[in-house]
Amino acid sequence: MIDASNTRPASMERIDTPEKAAAFINEQIPLLRKQIGNGKVLLALSGGVDSSVVAALLIRAVGTQLTCIHVNHGLMRKGESEQVIEVFRKQLGANLIYVDATDRFLDKLAGVSDPEQKRKIIGGEFIRVFDEEAAKLSGISFLAQGTIYPDILESDGIKAHHNVGGLPEDVRFELVEPIKLLFKDEVRVVGSALGLPDSMVNRQPFPGPGLGVRCVGAITRDRLTAVRESDAILREEFHQAGLEGKVWQYFTIVPDFRSTGIRDGKRSFDWPVVIRAVNTRDAMSATVEEIPWPLLHRITKRITSEVPHVNRVLYDLTPKPTGTIEWE
Ligand code: XMP
Repeated sequence: MIDASNTRPASMERIDTPEKAAAFINEQIPLLRKQIGNGKVLLALSGGVDSSVVAALLIRAVGTQLTCIHVNHGLMRKGESEQVIEVFRKQLGANLIYVDATDRFLDKLAGVSDPEQKRKIIGGEFIRVFDEEAAKLSGISFLAQGTIYPDILESDGIKAHHNVGGLPEDVRFELVEPIKLLFKDEVRVVGSALGLPDSMVNRQPFPGPGLGVRCVGAITRDRLTAVRESDAILREEFHQAGLEGKVWQYFTIVPDFRSTGIRDGKRSFDWPVVIRAVNTRDAMSATVEEIPWPLLHRITKRITSEVPHVNRVLYDLTPKPTGTIEWE
């Protein structure tokens, strides 16, 4: 049966200005209050655009009737969990439960090299941690989710393909999905109108399993640190070069092999870092960004001098197909 509430009416205007975003927010707040009443709502807040916008909307509508749970699986980018705490707990006064589950995830992932197995462990463990935290709370009757319109339209799209479409449907809770008829660009406009920081609203796509799929093969803490630190340098340099928001997705990968190099006159045997920067419309195919040569040199110099145990930087020139965007 087709659910009419899951269909965007033909008359619905595109939200592409701050004024239209404000109108959307003003329309949603009473609807959310009506649906939730005096009830309590739970939200898994990853810090991605969609869950962040839902959190900000619900804070406006029902304040501390909302409880957000942020699970740090240890595979977040540098500074990401800290930003979630800063923005939601400190600036917006949200009721935020922060769970540092790094050890739990990394212990479960130790020695696991198969990409799909890694994804399954990360997804499964995420649900377990979230459920455990939810079980400690009482009186929750609603579960908020950052479902957006492409998730409804493309049930066979990228998220579904990678089997990470969010938490499984849970009959204990009634769903609250205030942005389910919006496209991604509209969600960003609404996020800005809600006062979320640019770095949160305009961020590039980031896979659910996080840096775990960029630390190729079995994840080790030292290579994970190399992925996180090199990613932070790449993002900082792209920001300074004005490429943020222009290149669709850019990140680093650390493969599970080492090569010979020289450091301080001595032979080294260390990891390479691979840079990937791609443009696409729908992530089904992608072209490679032509990063200016001097910028590539600067990034290489910084990564090889600032990231421990890295002696080479490579640039992935492969479009999709034949490569996928991620390496796993
Ligand atoms: P691929 O590597 O399949 O990636 O070309 C296409 C887009 O999907 C993202 N991606 C994921 N997103 N969970 C996600 O939520 C995943 O397991 C996953 N794997 C890839 C990838 O970052 C790119 O934007």
